[in-house]
Amino acid sequence: MSPKPCPACRGPSPSPALPGAAWPGRCRRAARHRFTPNRPPCAPRVAEAAPIVAPAGSEAAALLAELHAEAFPPAHRWSGDAIGLLIALPGHFALLASVGGEPVGFVLGRVAAEEAEVLTLAVRPAGRRAGAGRALMGALMAEAARRGAATVFLEVAEGNAAARALYAALGAVEAGRRRRYYPDGSDALVLRLPLGDRLESPAPTRTPTRPPIPGC
Ligand SMILES: CC(C)(COP(=O)(O)OP(=O)(O)OC[C@H]1O[C@@H](n2cnc3c(N)ncnc32)[C@H](O)[C@@H]1OP(=O)(O)O)[C@@H](O)C(=O)NCCC(=O)NCCS
Repeated sequence: MSPKPCPACRGPSPSPALPGAAWPGRCRRAARHRFTPNRPPCAPRVAEAAPIVAPAGSEAAALLAELHAEAFPPAHRWSGDAIGLLIALPGHFALLASVGGEPVGFVLGRVAAEEAEVLTLAVRPAGRRAGAGRALMGALMAEAARRGAATVFLEVAEGNAAARALYAALGAVEAGRRRRYYPDGSDALVLRLPLGDRLESPAPTRTPTRPPIPGC
């Protein structure tokens, strides 16, 4: 029996129905259109929306903590208090991505002299694979460059395929490895992402160090 068309866009729905889903199956465009759990995955209003990234201050800490909790397993979650304190520190900043007015993710970074660092990057599961992560990283790179950074450093668990693919697509290269860095014994990779026309800057003699923060 051929699959039923998607009820929203009439496109093909090749996958079997999702458990508990209100629609018969994911249409091929579903990966880009699944922000709102109660809407069909290819609903046109969401389909047309692109991520919008804006600065977020300490007053948004509770919201950012909610997004972080959705994106990371319980042991790796950060509290709103911790996020609020980080944003308030000198050189630190947060950027929030929204789609159609709904917050979908954020990035927290810091700049010290010519080095920037991504402290955390989180996109809620329902909003993934729709460009929010890339938009957040692009905005972070622009903000870091504006604040005088020449290089962004990132840390990522070796097994985090999604984040590694995103960072590789942006041009990040491996700069080091921290063995058994995470509580589960897995390694962290330190990645280096040169910024714009400062690409030719000499490589730093060391990578930034800080205590382990599980989950990036
Ligand atoms: C990593 C993360 C931020 C990516 O966010 P996202 O909004 O889904 O990313 P984007 O849609 O912007 O994807 C940009 C590119 O990254 C790559 N990518 C993202 N997710 C991927 C996945 N699951 N598998 C393979 N590649 C992936 C692709 O190259 C993608 O481009 P494409 O969609 O055109 O193929 C998100 O998966 C997340 O929050 N994960 C949990 C928290 C986390 O791991 N944070 C990073 C810690 S260092």
